[in-house]
Amino acid sequence: MENILKIKNLKTQFTIGDKKGLAVDSFDIYLKKGTIHGIVGESGSGKTVTALSILRLLPENGEIISGEIEFKGKDILSILEEDMRKIRGNEIAMIFQEPMTSLNPVLSIGEQIIEAIVLHQKISKKQARIKACDILKKVGITEAEGRLNDYPHNFSGGMRQRVMTAMALSCNPDLLIADEPTTALDVTIQLQILELLVELSKKEGRTLLFITHDLGVVAEICDRVTVMYCGKVMEECSVEELFENPLHPYTIGLLKSVPRIDMDKNEKLYNISGNIDNIFTKHSGCPFASRCEIADEKCKEIVPQLKEIKKGHYARCFKV
Ligand SMILES: Nc1ncnc2c1ncn2[C@@H]1O[C@H](COP(=O)(O)OP(=O)(O)OP(=O)(O)O)[C@@H](O)[C@H]1O
Ligand SMILES: [Mg+2]
Repeated sequence: MENILKIKNLKTQFTIGDKKGLAVDSFDIYLKKGTIHGIVGESGSGKTVTALSILRLLPENGEIISGEIEFKGKDILSILEEDMRKIRGNEIAMIFQEPMTSLNPVLSIGEQIIEAIVLHQKISKKQARIKACDILKKVGITEAEGRLNDYPHNFSGGMRQRVMTAMALSCNPDLLIADEPTTALDVTIQLQILELLVELSKKEGRTLLFITHDLGVVAEICDRVTVMYCGKVMEECSVEELFENPLHPYTIGLLKSVPRIDMDKNEKLYNISGNIDNIFTKHSGCPFASRCEIADEKCKEIVPQLKEIKKGHYARCFKV
């Protein structure tokens, strides 16, 4: 299967005053067409910044200082902003963590979806309206025709997330990036949105980059997973391998922190001690060393490289 997206050695830096820090640090990922690839990691590990780097939508004080991002053979980092604008929405779409901030509150849902379709597909408003209805139905919004005139505040959180999904899908993107699309929703609605995303990616051959800190969701929907920490890939493997044969102490910690159904009532949930460092903290060794139960002097002094430990299973750790 061909790779639709290749990221090599990506470094994204933020500057605050005279401080500089890497939110994404030597990050690599290869996405195979038609697959669902998860990125997991604690809050602050660099998941959203990675997604924003792919779309070249970083905040003012952020910049990509090195690396390559290749999408369908095109070098994303060197193309003109004008061409990048065509790729965004058309070929790569993103569902953001905060649906309310990415919908325009003063325009009806219909106006927003129809505008997006007209802009990207060069069809008439009338045809776009029909298409918008189809897409809203696809994401499970009933009486779509009538709902086109509603404003974002008329929708519940779950419905807004469906609208966002509809907007993202309206332009038939090859790659859909979903950043924690369901964390703010209740469990049943979460499941419905996830099922929808899986169905669309499987049925329509879309590639999905799914960002989450929920390992349960990863187990449900992903083919491969990247475990991220302090901007770095700590482990990358198939979902089966992640759960059956996790290698990195950080991954093992994350897995142990997930509540299980067979847990004893009195059993306390495991918690990785300490906190993730902020991006301005300098490490000379492995960024996880200060929290790692098996780290030694070498781990604190030298950064381990990401290595293929067995076929298709990569880890960045001296102890594996
Ligand atoms: N504009 C900015 N200026 C400075 N630092 C930033 C900026 N945006 C993000 N960061 C920092 O970059 C790091 C990675 O942030 P990011 O939002 O990618 O984390 P995340 O993995 O998406 O976390 P979450 O799970 O909470 O969404 C964090 O330490 C964050 O504080
Ligand atoms: Mg995030």
